[in-house]
Amino acid sequence: MAQHDINFSFGLWTTGWSGQDQFGSASRAHRNPADDVRKLAELGAWGFTFHDDDVVPFGSDDATRAKLLGEIKDAAEETGMTIEMVTTNLFSHPVFKDGGVTSNDRNVRRFALRKVLRNVDLTAELGAKTFVMWGGREGSEYDGAKDLYAALDRYREGVDTVAAYIKEKGYDIKIALEPKPNEPRGDIFLPTVGHALGFIAELEHGDIVGLNPETGHEQMAGLNYTHGLAQALWADKLFHIDLNGQRSIKFDQDLVFGHGDLTSAFFTVDLVENGFPALPNATRYTGPRHFDYKPSRTESVEGVWDSAVANMEMYNMLAAKSKAYREDPEVQEAMKTAGLFELATPTLAEGETVADILADTTTFEDFDADAAAQRDFGFVRLNQLALKHLIG
Ligand code: GCO
Ligand code: MN
Ligand code: MN
Repeated sequence: MAQHDINFSFGLWTTGWSGQDQFGSASRAHRNPADDVRKLAELGAWGFTFHDDDVVPFGSDDATRAKLLGEIKDAAEETGMTIEMVTTNLFSHPVFKDGGVTSNDRNVRRFALRKVLRNVDLTAELGAKTFVMWGGREGSEYDGAKDLYAALDRYREGVDTVAAYIKEKGYDIKIALEPKPNEPRGDIFLPTVGHALGFIAELEHGDIVGLNPETGHEQMAGLNYTHGLAQALWADKLFHIDLNGQRSIKFDQDLVFGHGDLTSAFFTVDLVENGFPALPNATRYTGPRHFDYKPSRTESVEGVWDSAVANMEMYNMLAAKSKAYREDPEVQEAMKTAGLFELATPTLAEGETVADILADTTTFEDFDADAAAQRDFGFVRLNQLALKHLIG
């Protein structure tokens, strides 16, 4: 235990995935989630997370629910594992086939809200500080199937109601929305980090609502995950992260972290572990390093645990390499040449007004754009240094 200095956590639905997919049935037998908590602890994880239904099957009676939650609490206590985040399954049962909080069916929306509020109480009871809302079924296949304006109104109503409840109860919990462009719906609402940030700005209780961006989800949209994390940090909204691997624009692969775009993973870890290069005092991510991956269907139970370890190993290796990268004097020099530190200097001088810059002929009338265009930023050299650290 305590093999890792870093707080690694896993969703119980990750190692617990039995391999059932669109085309085939389960390739692994179901295991007791409490046993997986013990195994993850043994492998060096610090914490875990789960959906209500991962631990308590949908529709269980109160006695069964209490018994199963008791088993999870016991496993957490016994191992010292932290339950850091809890989330709600609003996607598996067919009642949610048109969504939870944005279903066209009002009774389904009311049921979804009750399921979420019940889960908020559980989150508080377990002491978890983050409540993830991934709206996998909030969306559509056909543009004519929904009034999109009303859908966004209902989404806002849903999230605001949950946030207001958290405040009213005085719970120390923050909501983290998880964007995803598609799958299982043809198109999902809040498809990217940017859409979700725009949505949060429209909330009444947006102060306790932030993001849980997932590597593969941004990459499914052809976007840059590290840039997404950076913008969430810049907006003070990076509440949680889902790390995994994805190889280009295709179905959600949920591979081991680093097994997708390795160079991108390097810069993700570099940002999370080392912060912004020119602004080291800017907002940093302080939450757990949470893995949301799926052990490939080809693996037996042995492969499940190999892949769990692989996530932590990849992260640790990338953390060490990114640290060496930052500390390398040649890299520091190349960053300087690249103008990285210069970017942190405000464009207008302190106290300088628009009138001042308009009057400053060196900025325009006498500015030699052709000469400035000759500058070599040396970005390729800098990137080569990064790759040398990564694979050297
Ligand atoms: C996915 C998602 C989900 C969510 C999880 C949290 O792979 O599509 O990552 O796994 O993270 O359901 O609610
Ligand atoms: Mn995913
Ligand atoms: Mn996820």
